[in-house]
Amino acid sequence: MSRLKYALIGHGRRGAAHLSTAATLKDTFDIVAVCDAHPESAEAGAAKVGVKAYTDVRKMVDEISPDVCDVVVPAPLHHTVSCYLSQCGISHNVETGLAPTLGLMDMMIADAAENNVKLQTSENFPFVPVEQFVCKLIKEGVIGNIHKCYRLFSTTGYHGLAAIRCRMDANPKAVSSIGHTMPVTPYIDRAKRDFNRENLEFYAIDFDNNGLGIAMVGNKNGCLGRNKLVGFETCGERGTIITNGNQGATGGETVNVCTDEDLTENAGRAQTYEFQREYHEDKTLHRIFVELPASLGGRVEWVNPYQHTSISETGISLATMLDGIARAVREDTQPLWTGEMGRADQEMVIAAHRSIQTNRQPIQLPLEPDPTEEDAFDRDFEAQFGVHPREDIEKALQVNFKAR
Ligand SMILES: NC(=O)c1ccc[n+]([C@@H]2O[C@H](COP(=O)([O-])OP(=O)(O)OC[C@H]3O[C@@H](n4cnc5c(N)ncnc54)[C@H](O)[C@@H]3O)[C@@H](O)[C@H]2O)c1
Repeated sequence: MSRLKYALIGHGRRGAAHLSTAATLKDTFDIVAVCDAHPESAEAGAAKVGVKAYTDVRKMVDEISPDVCDVVVPAPLHHTVSCYLSQCGISHNVETGLAPTLGLMDMMIADAAENNVKLQTSENFPFVPVEQFVCKLIKEGVIGNIHKCYRLFSTTGYHGLAAIRCRMDANPKAVSSIGHTMPVTPYIDRAKRDFNRENLEFYAIDFDNNGLGIAMVGNKNGCLGRNKLVGFETCGERGTIITNGNQGATGGETVNVCTDEDLTENAGRAQTYEFQREYHEDKTLHRIFVELPASLGGRVEWVNPYQHTSISETGISLATMLDGIARAVREDTQPLWTGEMGRADQEMVIAAHRSIQTNRQPIQLPLEPDPTEEDAFDRDFEAQFGVHPREDIEKALQVNFKAR
C-alpha cells in the first residue's frame, strides 16, 4: 500500500523527536508538511525533511490534505487541533496528556467518532521495550497473578499509571492521593523550567482485581541533590519484576522468582534472573530476554520489530505509536492507545487531584466531568488567550504558545 501523507503539527521540544522518528519510518510515511504557529520552529522542522512549512493548521490542511496528522502542541491546545482535524475527517495521533479536563477529552473522543476518524493517544510508556517485555513475562505467568505495583518517579503521573494498568491488566476503581508542596531555592533546570517549589503527589489506586497500584509523582527532578533512584516493582504470587521507573533509563532490570524448590527448600527466597540485551553489530537492539529454569518456562524474549532500522532502544516506543496510528488508518482498526484509553489514564490523575482536595478521601471511578473544573479551565484559557476554548474551535485554533 502507498505511504500515508503525514503532517506534524507542533515542532517544539517533543515534536522534533516525532519528526525524526516519522522520517525513519520511510515505508510508512511520506512527510508532506511541518506546521508550527511559531514561524522559525516551522521552518526549522520543514528544512530538516525538505517539505513546506506552515504556520496555520487550516491552511496546511487545505493545501496538503494529509492522511494522518501528528499533534504535538502544548496540552491545553490539544482539543482545538484534534477537534478541527476530526471535523476535516483527518485521523491523528495526539501527545499526552490527552487534554487537561474530562470534558475536553470527551469532546475530542465524540468528534472523532462522529467524523469516523481514528484518534490515538500517543501514550508511549507502555511501548518502551522493557515495558513490553515486562508485560510479556506477566502474560506468560512467570511471576503468577499480579496484586501490587509500585512506581516511584518524579514526573507526569499518567505515563506511570498507564504502565501500571497494563501490568495489572485490570480496571482502576478508586484513587486516593496525598499532595505535598514545599518551597525550594529558585533555580532553572536544564529543560529551562523555573522552579521555586517542589511538589509531590502520592497515589494509591485500587483495581477491580483487588490489586493495588502505588505511584509517586512530582516535579522533583534530581536537582538540589535529590535522590535520583527510581524504581518500578511489580509483585506477583511467585515473584517480583524490578525495573526502572524512569522510561529513559535502561539496564539493571531483573525478574526475581521462586521455583517450587525455592519455595520448599530455600524458604521462599527467589533466584534473580537478569534481563539480557543482545545487539547487532551496528548497536541496534536485537532482543531482550531472560533465561529461566525450564520449570518456570525457560527462555522468554521480546524481539525488536525495528531491529533493521536505526531506531535506538529509547526511540522504539514512539516509533510504535506512529506505526499504531498508521496501521489503524490503513487497516481500519483501533489505534494502539485509543482516545478512551488516554482518557482513562488522565481520569486517574484527575481523581487523585480531587482526592487531594477532599483530604485524601478515595474517589470512585469512572468520573464524570465536573462543571467547576471545566469552567476553571475555560476561564483561565479565555483570560490567557482572549478566546473561549470550545465555543468557536477555529478561533481557538489560532491560539498558540510554546510550553517552554
Ligand atoms: N510522551 C512524552 O514523553 C512527552 C514528553 C514531552 C512532551 N510531551 C507532550 O508533547 C506536547 C508538546 O510539548 P513540548 O514540550 O514539545 O512543547 P513545546 O512548547 O516545546 O512545543 C510545542 C510547539 O507547538 C507549537 N504550537 C503552539 N500552538 C500551536 C498552534 N495553534 N498551531 C501550531 N503549532 C502550535 C509551539 O510553537 C511549539 O513549537 C505536550 O502535549 C506535552 O505534554 C510528551
